Amino acid sequence: MTHGVVVSGSGYEERVRSVVAAHGGDPAALLPILHTLMAEFGHVDPAAIGVIAEGLNLSRAEIHGVISFYRDFRTTPAGVTTVRICRGEACQSVGADQLVEHARISIGVDVGQTTADGSVTLDQVFCLGNCALGPSAQIGSAVYGRVDGARLDGLVTSARQRPGGPPAAPVDGAGTAPAAGAPAAGRSDRDGEEAR
Ligand code: FES
Repeated sequence: MTHGVVVSGSGYEERVRSVVAAHGGDPAALLPILHTLMAEFGHVDPAAIGVIAEGLNLSRAEIHGVISFYRDFRTTPAGVTTVRICRGEACQSVGADQLVEHARISIGVDVGQTTADGSVTLDQVFCLGNCALGPSAQIGSAVYGRVDGARLDGLVTSARQRPGGPPAAPVDGAGTAPAAGAPAAGRSDRDGEEAR
């Protein structure tokens, strides 16, 4: 995903219009349109809302509603590194909630927020496909198992020193790459709600 892309003015709005037009102005294409903007700019800038609403003949409130419902969408740029802590059932049973609380204090932002220096965004997911090795966390693109507070702090420090996050380690509980066939890393809690 692209991070921190500065969007401004008519150029951005023109790009949004072209994305909407590529979907034929079909209101059912709202999610693909938002995903395209997320992939391209790292967030859906508020300037896109009116353009999308007009192009799809939807209200701004409807667009806002969809963006706020799915945690995969954000209206502000994410930090250079995103730290996602799994709050799925398996991870919760081994201390994920405590790990999230630790992260909120040590990183200094709430879930869904980005540090003032733009280096780290703290987020949560509801399964990283690493259930047997919880609590699990994703730092950048790498998924780690058996993460406690001290380990999380070390991983975040490492990620800050190496934008994009540290490389994945072997599957030994010290750090794991996403398993083949595992759910896409970054699956959101909203996705979980949707699947119920
Ligand atoms: S519940 Fe946390 S990795 Fe599956």
